[in-house]
Amino acid sequence: MDNSRMKSDQYPRLRRMRRNATLRDMLDENRLFASEFIYPMFVTTGAGVRTPIEPMPGIDQISVDLAVEEAQLALDAGVKSVILFGLPDEKDATGSRSSSPDEAVQRAVSEIKKSSPETYVITDVCLCEYTDHGHCGIINGNDVDNDATLPLLAETAVSHAEAGADMVAPSAMMDGQVAAIRAGLNDSGHADVPVMGYSAKYASAFYGPFRIAADSAPQFGDRRTYQMAHSKGREAMREIEADLYEGADIIMVKPALAYLDVIKEASMRFDTPVAAYNVSGEYSMVAAAGQAGWLDRERAMMEVLTSIKRAGADLIITYSAIEAARIISRG
Ligand code: PBG
Repeated sequence: MDNSRMKSDQYPRLRRMRRNATLRDMLDENRLFASEFIYPMFVTTGAGVRTPIEPMPGIDQISVDLAVEEAQLALDAGVKSVILFGLPDEKDATGSRSSSPDEAVQRAVSEIKKSSPETYVITDVCLCEYTDHGHCGIINGNDVDNDATLPLLAETAVSHAEAGADMVAPSAMMDGQVAAIRAGLNDSGHADVPVMGYSAKYASAFYGPFRIAADSAPQFGDRRTYQMAHSKGREAMREIEADLYEGADIIMVKPALAYLDVIKEASMRFDTPVAAYNVSGEYSMVAAAGQAGWLDRERAMMEVLTSIKRAGADLIITYSAIEAARIISRG
């Protein structure tokens, strides 16, 4: 006896639209483009230096000369934008090397722009790679001093713009950092350089591999007095509103994978472009499981990137950029 409530010709037949590959392809709702990827690079001093980052197979710390080659490689694959992180030789309490024109990042910016003007060069603006205590600003007592850090971030951003950076991206999570940087850029003749705010940046275990890559782990405490708690969704909207009020041109949600709801909400609520950072730990998880033979790394990588796009990201910062771009063009 047929005990279903609907007859077989009455219920929706969704499988009808999945019957062959061409049809499935025709009906794709979200497709990835290499032009929406931003490829992060860790730039160090010296020449001919390539130091593999153990938890991030395929990603290395590279000296300026190799960063130029890598940017070209990215461009050849269709990835036109890079974001640079710098590793200084020396660190101090105020991260003073961060605004030096001789540092790896500043030199990489000008060398990349020289050899490949088409590459859009973004710089990460933060002090954590440059401070000996590993925090994102200068320390007063047991905590980061918000307002004392702002001029240092502005100086750093200006030094990047002076080197030729196309865009700067402050990631320190200090209140007022976008406004301070915007003012610094405007006052130094760089009113055309946009600011991409790491607006909703969470205190996340998924930054673990990055901190090995960038040698930027805090030497005491953690970042929870400035980065957001992962339990919070609505506060992310306030962080984004603050960045927009201060003049951010692009807003960002970071990490991406565990925060797809936040990306979705931000993309529905704000008409500014939304970037999402597919962070180091997200990359490492897929790489490690792939290496163990536990999943198909390429497919998992593309699924992750597509889910970030589906959530509403206009731009995706990802260590998988070059590989994913090659997969996209291979079709
Ligand atoms: C610097 C910064 C971090 C990341 C980007 N910029 C680390 C942190 O906040 O500890 C993380 C990126 C990644 O994990 O891929 N403040």
